[in-house]
Amino acid sequence: MAKLTVNELDLQGKRVLTRVDYNVPMAESDGVMVINDDTRIRATLPTLRAMIEKGAKVVLCAHLGRPKGERVDSMSLRPVAQKLSELINQPVAFCDQCVGDKVTDAVSQLKDGNILLLENVRYHAEEEANDTAFSEKLAANADIYVNDAFGAAHRSHASTAGAARVVTERGGQCAAGLLMERELKFLGEELESPKSPFVVILGGAKVSDKIKVIDRLLEKADTIIIGGAMAYTFKLAKGLQVGKSLVEPDKVDVAQAALEKAKERNVQFLIPTDNVVAEPTQIDGKFAFGDYRINDNENIPDDMEGVDIGPKSAEAFGVVIKGAKTILWNGPMGIFEDSRFAEGTYNVAKAVCEATANGAISIIGGGDSVKALNNAGLGDQTTFMSTGGGASLEFLEGNELPGVTALTDK
Ligand code: 3PG
Repeated sequence: MAKLTVNELDLQGKRVLTRVDYNVPMAESDGVMVINDDTRIRATLPTLRAMIEKGAKVVLCAHLGRPKGERVDSMSLRPVAQKLSELINQPVAFCDQCVGDKVTDAVSQLKDGNILLLENVRYHAEEEANDTAFSEKLAANADIYVNDAFGAAHRSHASTAGAARVVTERGGQCAAGLLMERELKFLGEELESPKSPFVVILGGAKVSDKIKVIDRLLEKADTIIIGGAMAYTFKLAKGLQVGKSLVEPDKVDVAQAALEKAKERNVQFLIPTDNVVAEPTQIDGKFAFGDYRINDNENIPDDMEGVDIGPKSAEAFGVVIKGAKTILWNGPMGIFEDSRFAEGTYNVAKAVCEATANGAISIIGGGDSVKALNNAGLGDQTTFMSTGGGASLEFLEGNELPGVTALTDK
């Protein structure tokens, strides 16, 4: 069911409790926490600008990390308020609480078009417990609830679902932000009846993480391309040798079933025919990769581990990708964080961008593939990059997202 969006709301003078996903990577530098990647903050700017233009008093709430109900200084959202202020070019007030009198006071000082960011909601254990009393406290200063936190929409927490329920019960409106709307459009509607050829590229470590997505997309895809460590479990399922590669032996039957289903449905199912392999070893007592080389064979030698797709596979995958009209990509082809094993992932990234330039719709399902595209400087050359990790996968699996369900139907 389509959900109300901020575009349809009258926000003049209204206090809008807005859930955003500001769970951004940070690292300490000279005693201060520095944001390493502000993509998720930037992604909310269209929603914030739209609300400011409409005269809303914007009250942002978010989580950062997993502090498990404790106040952990390194997980404070204060640096995010500073960063957001720079990006949106206006002051952003910060309150070091997310519920209580201090918040009420800070909200009462807001003028139309002002922004206030509340402290990490996960400093309270009641957040993840979706506690009713806590949800009521969160919603205490809200006339309207907006959820723009697609990345957290798979969580049934107080700030993602409970507060929306409270506002709804009071007769208030709960709407999707513009980022949430775009995420649902591209990962949902666009993939409902994708233009053919529809090519799905899946990578990453585990078959178990992606099997439900594979199963669902086998209903729609023309080709499924598998890379990353999960490909080695598929090799096992085909009776090939995997050497020391990362595999899930207990998922071989699941992989076999997927291969069968692909055959029945006439879906082309591609796994790498060559690989970059490396020797797992110890350097200074720590795990490391020693010698590495291209292994031009489907089977991986006994003493080696597959760490990337090989050049032949990258070329064959590239041909299929460049012929696609719709592409969904989730997960890297190898250990791309190590530059020695990044080429396969980058070649796939280039092919996806080339297809996009030729008119294909390319949807990047969040997480590491987004990181890989950004590392390769290609982040702006796809149709859509999701800001969700776990949320994108759950949505692609066809699961309901509590953060979306809680919003007002159109
Ligand atoms: C994410 O980073 O995927 C979201 O912010 C959700 O975070 P979580 O997995 O800690 O709930």
